[in-house]
Amino acid sequence: MGVRAVFLVGFMGSGKSTVGQELARRLAWDFVDLDARIEARERKTIPDIFRLHGEHAFRSAETDALRDLTNSLARDSVVALGGGAFVQETNRELLRSWPSVFLDAPISELWQRCLQHEAPDGAKRPLRNDLEQFSRLHEERLPFYRQTYMVVETSGKTPGAICQEIERALQLG
Ligand code: S3P
Repeated sequence: MGVRAVFLVGFMGSGKSTVGQELARRLAWDFVDLDARIEARERKTIPDIFRLHGEHAFRSAETDALRDLTNSLARDSVVALGGGAFVQETNRELLRSWPSVFLDAPISELWQRCLQHEAPDGAKRPLRNDLEQFSRLHEERLPFYRQTYMVVETSGKTPGAICQEIERALQLG
């Protein structure tokens, strides 16, 4: 069998990193955070890439990092994508032969989870401003997120329960 991988998709605060780390642990696979790959490749933090070069430059760095990753996957891996990655057609094309999972949650939960996990000024997430802008961006992205291989409703579920759903649906473990 070739290398296996699962790509986690979802809006900011959807739990891609938490669920991804848990899934990788359960399967004894590698965990890859695409945002961390981008920061390592660019030698800059994501807020700095946005601030110094703008979103357009960030999106091309994101596609470069994803292309590089999908071309060089040597071990079974769970990959957490950034919230905007699956919106780009080129990126969806790169992921066509891998299972992708959309972690869905109500907007109020996404917003609360972002607030809990980062500074209130949004310094870590350049595309999280106020709730209205956050909700609008989420609405715009839903049609793309729904093009994933499977959707998991995460509200009220533990990371373990979410992993179990993914494992069953993808026949892993
Ligand atoms: C982004 C989400 C971030 C990061 C960047 C852009 C987005 O990742 O990739 O700030 O466009 O939604 P998380 O979804 O992990 O916060």
